[in-house]
Amino acid sequence: MSVSVLFLPDRITVTAEPGERLLNVAERAGVSIPTCCLKGACYVCKVEIEGEANPVRACLATVPTELLTTVHRYSTPI
Ligand code: FES
Repeated sequence: MSVSVLFLPDRITVTAEPGERLLNVAERAGVSIPTCCLKGACYVCKVEIEGEANPVRACLATVPTELLTTVHRYSTPI
């Protein structure tokens, strides 16, 4: 079942499948998340997921099964 992912501060909502990588969902939505290694080593792509205690790496993290997931990206793209 598809879920919604809300990207802040962009205020863009996109439909995604649980298990999809957050970075792929963001790219599909036109939301820019800075990246470097794409292997989980650099933390450049870290984002905050509402309800999670610690930031996650968008290149590794997957969309959870909640109906609405709110993702807050830290960096402003250049
Ligand atoms: S791009 Fe390096 S950890 Fe995600």
